[in-house]
Amino acid sequence: MKILITGNMGYVGPSVVKQLRASYPDATLVGFDIGYFGNCITSAAVLPECRVDQQYFADIRQFPEEILKDVEAVIHLAGISNDPIGNRFEEVTQDINYRASIDLPKKAKEAGVKSFIFASSCSMYGAAEDSARTEKSPLNPLTAYAKSKVFTERDLEPLASKKFRITCLRFSTACGWSDRLRLDLVLNDFVAGAVASKKITILSDGTPWRPLINVKDMARAIDWAIRRELNNVGDFLAVNIGSDEWNYQVKDLAKAVAKVIPGVDISINKNAQPDKRSYRVNFKLFKSLALDYQPTVSLVESIEELKNGLEAIGFKDGEFRNSKYMRLNVLTELREKGLVNEKLQWINK
Ligand SMILES: NC(=O)c1ccc[n+]([C@@H]2O[C@H](COP(=O)([O-])OP(=O)(O)OC[C@H]3O[C@@H](n4cnc5c(N)ncnc54)[C@H](O)[C@@H]3O)[C@@H](O)[C@H]2O)c1
Repeated sequence: MKILITGNMGYVGPSVVKQLRASYPDATLVGFDIGYFGNCITSAAVLPECRVDQQYFADIRQFPEEILKDVEAVIHLAGISNDPIGNRFEEVTQDINYRASIDLPKKAKEAGVKSFIFASSCSMYGAAEDSARTEKSPLNPLTAYAKSKVFTERDLEPLASKKFRITCLRFSTACGWSDRLRLDLVLNDFVAGAVASKKITILSDGTPWRPLINVKDMARAIDWAIRRELNNVGDFLAVNIGSDEWNYQVKDLAKAVAKVIPGVDISINKNAQPDKRSYRVNFKLFKSLALDYQPTVSLVESIEELKNGLEAIGFKDGEFRNSKYMRLNVLTELREKGLVNEKLQWINK
């Protein structure tokens, strides 16, 4: 079996590759990434890409279809991965997350790929705190990033067929340790603040709801999606990925971190503009389809693994929000150094 993983050199990718290596020891794993965060290695003794059989450094916007020869499954993680980057590079976000993300499955279908798995996001529910949203609930994307995911799902659906299964995994907000750690994610940010300076600074009033999931459990959900032909749910499936117990208010996440790391001061910005991005999500469909692939890592375990990982690398940067642990900062620096152009294409490649 040959599996292509796009965007494997980001935060989620290394966990996915480890999971697939364990589940499919004989598979040929192929990575494809533009490499924006290639040198943002946190702790790995071994470059995570050594675990794939082939690694392509290229832009998904000019995807060479010959790579798809003999590929059975495509796991499409490549993309602009948060709201701040989406706001700063709005058109690029639509180009990569939407247009290129529809071009790829068209080529994949043509090449005889059987299964296409798209890393979608629960952020497409937008402002949705009154009741937990199911896959049938109306979508309300509030940002360029969330809109790109909605457009892609919409245009993926008609491409699905018996021979070309499409699974859109609407992931909760990720958390947990990774060989390429990001700290621009709510729980990771709180643990980093607690470890570095015994301070958690909540930028909102703390009331927004966020469902969370550990990256290892995201990887297990992807593993399930590859095998999901055993379930009789149709050629196209969009499913919320997380668990009902993991719908948290941001202030409760901060309190959970302070419980694991004592002596931490939590500051809530009571004057903050309300953060409209607040959503509760219903994960019953995922539970009914994938009982053996439900999230297993607890919130406390996620906090502990982040704390232990950060301490092991001697993390002390109280100003980490200005550091390379934030995806937007890395791209801004690449722009300032003239390494990428305004379309985020490498210059003088
Ligand atoms: N982390 C989360 O909370 C979360 C939640 C829901 C969905 N997702 C989705 O999962 C996917 C992976 O997320 P992540 O946290 O690993 O993000 P990330 O930013 O860490 O990684 C994304 C990877 O995509 C690559 N990439 C970007 N543009 C590319 C292009 N034009 N061509 C080739 N490669 C390109 C980047 O170099 C990077 O390695 C994304 O699609 C994201 O939207 C993430």
